[in-house]
Amino acid sequence: MFGMGNKGGSSSSKPRQQDKRKTTSSEKRTTVAKQKPYEKQTPSNFTPPTRDELLNAHHPSSRKRKPNADQLVNVQDYQTSARSQLNKSTYEYFSSGSDDQVTLAENQNFYAKIKLVPRVFVNVSNIDTSVSLSTGQKINFPIMVAPISSQEVLNPDGERATARASEAMGTIMCTSTLSSVRLEKTAQESKSLWYQLYILRDREFTKSLIKKVEAAGYKAIVVTVDAPQPGNRESDIRNKSMLPEGVTLSRLLTDLQSETNEIDNSLTWDDLDWIRSITNLPVLVKGVISPLDAVLAYRKKCNGIIVSNHGARQMDTTVSTIEALPAIMQALREEAGTNEIAMDVFIDGGIRRGSDILKAVCLGAKAVFVGRPIAWGLSVNGEQGVKDVLSILKREFELACTLCGITSMKQCNKSFVLLPGQSLQELRSKL
Ligand SMILES: Cc1cc2nc3c(=O)[nH]c(=O)nc-3n(C[C@H](O)[C@H](O)[C@H](O)COP(=O)(O)O)c2cc1C
Repeated sequence: MFGMGNKGGSSSSKPRQQDKRKTTSSEKRTTVAKQKPYEKQTPSNFTPPTRDELLNAHHPSSRKRKPNADQLVNVQDYQTSARSQLNKSTYEYFSSGSDDQVTLAENQNFYAKIKLVPRVFVNVSNIDTSVSLSTGQKINFPIMVAPISSQEVLNPDGERATARASEAMGTIMCTSTLSSVRLEKTAQESKSLWYQLYILRDREFTKSLIKKVEAAGYKAIVVTVDAPQPGNRESDIRNKSMLPEGVTLSRLLTDLQSETNEIDNSLTWDDLDWIRSITNLPVLVKGVISPLDAVLAYRKKCNGIIVSNHGARQMDTTVSTIEALPAIMQALREEAGTNEIAMDVFIDGGIRRGSDILKAVCLGAKAVFVGRPIAWGLSVNGEQGVKDVLSILKREFELACTLCGITSMKQCNKSFVLLPGQSLQELRSKL
């Protein structure tokens, strides 16, 4: 199944001495709960922990003192704090990319290569960062919450906490198909959710999932298309996944029911027509990197695309997302024959600063999604941690707008950014 494997525990510690006395099943459970969760167990003495035992073993809050919130002033601080609290294999599952993690670094690093070109003598006493989306929704600032699987591993409230925090902050959370909380339960916590869909081999099941999504009040469907198969995440292989032996992913994933629900890797653009034929919800495509695919999505009349390389967890050495964005916008404008493209373009990957968000919006993104920063906030302090991470990014973004002389999102354009290889001379011609 996707993401986390189920092929055994960590090999770091020795097998425990087996207790010769016969034990009841509940005694065995207690034993498992007390021992370290990743301790290697022989098949003969192994009793899988209950779902709660498994999740409790992962929750950072149950192990270490809460960090002093005053010291957490940026996203990196949250990552460092989450790292110190999470189990190594859990941290690596959430943080790592594929292969040599070239794209993982580049997703972040490319933002630093793009320079901002502020304007001055602009009245910045009032800044409106709100954005209206083609789904008819309005968000308070152009930062949205990316789909991240199995969030209960990070906090007992999992996706529910993230949904509450996103709603409270006035933005949208996209819930993963690989969620650890039932989609209906997450929907009770927020009225502004999108649903990330993996199209499964079992089409009837996929259809029933979409019907549940509609009934639960989700506002859009985001079809992820860059993961016909999981990427090569070597830390997960070394750690033999983050799950103890005998625990399968299906015990964490609530909406998929069984591991036979595999993601379909035979999908083509025609399958998007099928999705559109069975739902009236807006449909977006997540995982577009090539301008050619962006144009195909536009021709399919998608409501939006998310320029994404899955947080660098799929193909390594792909172009970073922010590097791809200008060419994608150019291709779409040429296809539409106008600068007003009837499709929202979003971006994710490596966004850790308010200035990154401003660069993305100036290069044409309606809004950005953040993934790992949300996971770190959730790990460190649950719902409040997610709110704090979103607040930090919001505050940094507002400051970036203020210091660059931007008072509304409509004013964002490429005259505020200098791409690698461009000269300031070229900017003059954009006035
Ligand atoms: C641990 C983890 C789990 C993820 N699970 C999903 C998922 O279930 N579905 C999906 O479309 N994308 C998934 N993603 C990708 C994110 O939605 C998003 O594209 C990526 O995290 C953005 O990059 P960032 O983490 O650098 O912000 C996952 C990413 C991570 C790190």
